[in-house]
Amino acid sequence: MDRIQFDFNNAMTMMVGDHGFSAQEIAAASGMLKNAIDALKTKPLGFRKLPKGQAAVVDDIIETAASIRKDYDTFVVLGIGGSALGPIAVEQALTDGQDGMKLIVEDNVDPERLARVFGSLDLKKTIFNVITKSGRTSETMSQMMYAANAIEKAGFALKDHMIATTDEKNGELVKIAQKEDLKSFVIPADVGGRFSELTPVGLLPAAVCGHDIRAMLEGAAYMDELCMRETENPAALYALLHVLGMKKGLNLSVMLPYADSLKFMSDWYAQLWAESLGKRYGNDGSEVYAGQTPVKSLGVTDQHSQIQLYTEGPFDKIVTFLKVDKFRNDLEIPKALTYIDAISFLGGKTFGQLLEAERSATEYALCKAGRPNITIALSQVSAYTVGALLYFFEMATAYAGEMLGINAFDQPGVEEGKVATFALMGKAGFEEKKAELNARPEKDAALIME
Ligand code: PA5
Repeated sequence: MDRIQFDFNNAMTMMVGDHGFSAQEIAAASGMLKNAIDALKTKPLGFRKLPKGQAAVVDDIIETAASIRKDYDTFVVLGIGGSALGPIAVEQALTDGQDGMKLIVEDNVDPERLARVFGSLDLKKTIFNVITKSGRTSETMSQMMYAANAIEKAGFALKDHMIATTDEKNGELVKIAQKEDLKSFVIPADVGGRFSELTPVGLLPAAVCGHDIRAMLEGAAYMDELCMRETENPAALYALLHVLGMKKGLNLSVMLPYADSLKFMSDWYAQLWAESLGKRYGNDGSEVYAGQTPVKSLGVTDQHSQIQLYTEGPFDKIVTFLKVDKFRNDLEIPKALTYIDAISFLGGKTFGQLLEAERSATEYALCKAGRPNITIALSQVSAYTVGALLYFFEMATAYAGEMLGINAFDQPGVEEGKVATFALMGKAGFEEKKAELNARPEKDAALIME
C-alpha cells in the first residue's frame, strides 16, 4: 500500500538548536492551529470537492483520453501558470518514457521555442488542449491563435485538433469553443488556477498520457482525511511551522526533492506558495506584506550548487526534503575498475542507495548547521502518492493563508500584469491603463550602459 510520511523532527530546537521551533512555541500557537482547522472545516473551498465530487467528469475524461490515444500521438497543452505547471509536474512524476503519447506543455510565448515546437509537430497526429481559467490570458490566446492558424492552413478541421478547458461561462475561450464546436471541459468556478490540477486541467493530460487519474483522486481523498484531523494534521503543522518561521525571518521555503521524477513538483509548489501567500493586504484591509519566497532545488544536483549557501549562509530558510523510499527502477553500480581501491566501496550498491545516502548526508549537514528542515517521504512515486502530495500542499497553503489572515485564493498582482499587457498590446477598453503606463517617469540614460 502506497503511503506518505511526514517527519517534522528536524524543524525542532532539539535537532537544530535556536533557529528551530521549541515545543513551547508550538504550544503557544495551538490556538492559531485550531482556528485554522476550524475555518477550513466550515469554508466551502472548491478544491476540496474535487477528490470525490466529479465522478461524471472523470468518466468523460477517461473516455475522451482513450479516443485521443487511438487517433493522435502528441498532446500539446497551451496554457500558463496554474494551467500548465500541474500537467508538467505530474507527467514528469509518472512517465516511464515508454508510453506512445508525447506531452508538450507550451507555457511560454518565446518565439524561438514556439517555432521549434511547431516545426517539430506532425499536425495530423497532434491535438491541442487550450487551458485557461479566465479564458482570456494573452499568452494562451496568442498560442491558440497560432495553433488554430496552423491547423486551418494544414487543411484540418479545428474541432478535430483542439480541446478547450475553461470556465463554464466567462472569457473568450468558451465563446470560441461554442462557435467551433470544440470538445470542452469545465474548470469549476470556485477552483482557482493554481488549485486546479485535480480538475480537467490536470486530469485530462494525465489520462491522455496513460496515468491512473482515479488513483490520483483516491490519494487526494486520503490526504483530505489526514489534513482535516484535529490532531496530528500534517498540512496544518507544515503551515504552522512555515508561518511561525516567517515571523522569525525564515523568508525562504526551499523545496528539495531527491528524485528527478519530482523535479517539477518544486515549480508547481513555487507558484502555489508564492501566488497564494504573497499578499499586500490582510483580510481586515491592513497592509501586511505577507509571504515566503519559494526556492526550487533538486537533490543531488544542487548539493554541488546551492547546499553550501543553505548550510553556511543566512538563517533565512526552511527546507522541505521530498524523499522516495523505493525507486520504480533501480540500477546497480557495477563492481568495475576494481584496481582503484578508493572507489570500490560504491560497487555493488545501487544508485537509489547512493541518492538516499546523499539526501541523508545533506539532512545531517543541515541539522549540524542549525537549519530547520522537514522530510516528506513517498513510499514510491505513483499516481496515488502524487495525487496525495499535490493535495497536501494545497491544504497546507490554505492553512497558511488562514494563519496569516490573508486571502490565499486571489492574485491581484498577477491580474495587474495581465491588464498592463492588454494595455501595452493595444486591447480595446484598456486605454486608461495605457495612459497610466505612459505616465511612468523617464528612465535616466546615464543608468543604461552598453
Ligand atoms: O493561479 C492563478 O490563478 C494564475 O497563476 C493562473 O493560473 C495563470 O495566470 C493563468 O491564468 P488562466 O488559467 O486564467 O489563463
